[in-house]
Amino acid sequence: MFSVTSTRKLMGRRRSVFYQDVINGLRASQKYLFSKYFYDEAGDRLFQQIMASPEYYLTRCEMDIFQHQSGDIAALFEGEPFDLVELGPGDATKSWHLLRELMRRKAPFTYYPIDISSNVIGWLEEKLPVSLPGIQLQGLNGEYLDRMEYVEHISQRRKIVLFMGANIGNMTMQQATLFCRQLHDRMRPGDLLLIGFDLKKDPRIILDAYNDKQGITRAFNLNLLTRINRELGADFDVAQFEHYPIYDPASGACKSYLISRIAQDVRMNDDEVIHFAESEPIYMEISQKYSLGETHYLARQSGFKGVREFYDSKKMFADILWERLP
Ligand SMILES: C[S@@+](CC[C@H](N)C(=O)[O-])C[C@H]1O[C@@H](n2cnc3c(N)ncnc32)[C@H](O)[C@@H]1O
Repeated sequence: MFSVTSTRKLMGRRRSVFYQDVINGLRASQKYLFSKYFYDEAGDRLFQQIMASPEYYLTRCEMDIFQHQSGDIAALFEGEPFDLVELGPGDATKSWHLLRELMRRKAPFTYYPIDISSNVIGWLEEKLPVSLPGIQLQGLNGEYLDRMEYVEHISQRRKIVLFMGANIGNMTMQQATLFCRQLHDRMRPGDLLLIGFDLKKDPRIILDAYNDKQGITRAFNLNLLTRINRELGADFDVAQFEHYPIYDPASGACKSYLISRIAQDVRMNDDEVIHFAESEPIYMEISQKYSLGETHYLARQSGFKGVREFYDSKKMFADILWERLP
């Protein structure tokens, strides 16, 4: 028998979007979980460790761009006062260089970091005013498009949107096209969008980035099961799941799975039982890689035109500036 309090707790969990997303994903014939749920406090910390790992070249490449070319990027933002909206900034270590450059130039802007992790937003609101005194900043906790709509609602200024770190790679190309069209609908003609794309390259370099020797990416994936245990009352035995990344050089899709080592049942919320067959996968994340041609096609398909492309010294990564067409 459940007590009144535990029954309320169960009902509350069941109503949460997180619970519904997890249940839908685990009940599907091909099980999946949404990677946006990786980012709780432990997930944010693990992602910082991934960024510092020797295999994860993406951060070093994009850092190279922002350390050396923030002046050139900032010059393209000159003009009327603007809102600088960053989608999924994480700890903003790279965009920090651009923010500093904009402040040095006394550019009239307000910075709106939007992140699904409340931990990230709290951290940025505490740290950025210290390292960049005088910055106009309003952190927004929530989903990209929903919070973008809110910014549009509270301010009529032109928008410059940053979508860095190859976050766009966490969507299939089809999802990315739809997403960019939705961004287009929330922007006005002349507004700018800077997107970080991880470019197609030696497949071994790519696969290693998602399979680091220290096992941090493995821990990052497994942490979502721990989060589901803690927040949704599940009983995943994390040791019975194995991290398995694959890269397909033809499509450019790098996909991560958790594989059930054994046949097992996982209880959710005291009333749902999810069965796993031995070796059954849970699809966790895509990290899509792009050719330059594919980035141009994406811009055309979603109503933007290319303004300028910025590369790291090895040309492994590109931050590409697009302008929103009428
Ligand atoms: C891969 S990290 C990259 C962080 C940063 N852009 C960088 O380059 O270091 C992705 C970030 O986006 C956030 N995020 C993921 N999905 C999101 C969503 N649907 N809406 C808002 N934020 C999201 C995560 O919390 C995390 O901080």
